[in-house]
Amino acid sequence: MNILLLGSGGREHALAWKIAQSPKIEKLYIAPGNAGTGQVGENVALKADDFEGIKNFVLEHQVDMVVVGPEDPLVKGIYDFFRNDAQLRDIPVIGPSKAGAQLEGSKDFAKGFMQRHGIPTAAYQTFTPDTVEEGCAFLATLQAPYVLKADGLCAGKGVLILPTLEEAQKELREMLGGMFGQASARVVIEEFLSGIECSVFVLTDGKDYKILPEAKDYKRIGEGDTGLNTGGMGSVSPVPFADKAWMQKVEDRIIRPTVEGLAAEGLDYKGFIFFGLINCGGDPKVIEYNCRMGDPETETVMLRIKSDLVELLEGVAEGNLAQRTIVFDDRSTVCVMLVSGGYPGHYEKGKVITLNDAHALSEDSIIFHAGTAMKDGQVVTAGGRVIAVSSYGKDKAEALARSFAGAQQIQFEGKYFRRDIGQDL
Ligand code: AMP
Ligand code: GLY
Repeated sequence: MNILLLGSGGREHALAWKIAQSPKIEKLYIAPGNAGTGQVGENVALKADDFEGIKNFVLEHQVDMVVVGPEDPLVKGIYDFFRNDAQLRDIPVIGPSKAGAQLEGSKDFAKGFMQRHGIPTAAYQTFTPDTVEEGCAFLATLQAPYVLKADGLCAGKGVLILPTLEEAQKELREMLGGMFGQASARVVIEEFLSGIECSVFVLTDGKDYKILPEAKDYKRIGEGDTGLNTGGMGSVSPVPFADKAWMQKVEDRIIRPTVEGLAAEGLDYKGFIFFGLINCGGDPKVIEYNCRMGDPETETVMLRIKSDLVELLEGVAEGNLAQRTIVFDDRSTVCVMLVSGGYPGHYEKGKVITLNDAHALSEDSIIFHAGTAMKDGQVVTAGGRVIAVSSYGKDKAEALARSFAGAQQIQFEGKYFRRDIGQDL
């Protein structure tokens, strides 16, 4: 079969790497992809939210399935675009409908959904420009620190955690005053939860689900979890505290009620659900939902799936996921992200990337490209997060040693990575 994968980051390279291993694949296309996806499939110069362009490509190249990497096309309704088009109707899109994607696209919707289905999460209230004074009064009833979330998509910048009431009230006024445009026309204020975070993923066909390997990501730029938030500096899988008993709580209290809740509300959902969880004294609570896989979690999770991913995706498309099996690899996997100097602030692009000694790279390491491009026959940096070095090991320490050794072999001007990935677990 022919698959078109949408997106261009490390997540998409990892998905492409896994999909390309399937004996079922004839052609794998990635739109727009990066220099790494071009090694496992064919890149197509189309933006992931150019629906008309995607339509023409799908029809011209006999694409049998579309797999959506990032949230943007989903929140904009690519699933519905296919379902409502006579020529595309029968081509499955792996990802939720626009209504289902609200789990990520609207924090207020997600909180209401969890409340309706008794899914554990932080207490909250939502405010609009008309109720800004009530919002300030509500903040005064809470304990520091204060959590403010813009309702809509803000490229990961919409959550503010503020140490004092004064700052929280000031930021609330600014958010509701249009700080993130339409995305902050509503603001969720919620209770601060403390604990260690863990990302859990499922694939669902809308009735049944398969739980994928869990992972932990590292969001801050600096070692010891300091400094600004980034798109993610690394990940590890498995996560030690996510043992059998904890995962059973996650399934019973969070995963099953979510999948059943989506069905009960008539929200068409055939794709990945990402549960951003926090472990509060042994009890999992939901920090956020995403309607896609995580990045850089995918760069460790895909390594831990032994089964044919395309077989599972077919189960999603055909609505018979219950009849499919997923087998995990028992090894540990880690991912160390190499980023451009200055990221997540200003950074330069176009730096040539070289590999010192290809033979020095462990056979148990895989290089996934994130922000890279081809220029005059050379691979160059094209984003803040540049390359993910993922590795297997018999344990986390062995996997980390391999990824750090790999990280030393890859050179580009300004390269930076965190040397403490996985050390807190
Ligand atoms: P979100 O975009 O909702 O995942 O929020 C971004 C990050 O903010 C999360 O990964 C958490 O680290 C943090 N965060 C969000 N909500 C809360 C909360 N209620 N309590 C503590 N930390 C939070
Ligand atoms: N790693 C977090 C995310 O993908 O949103």
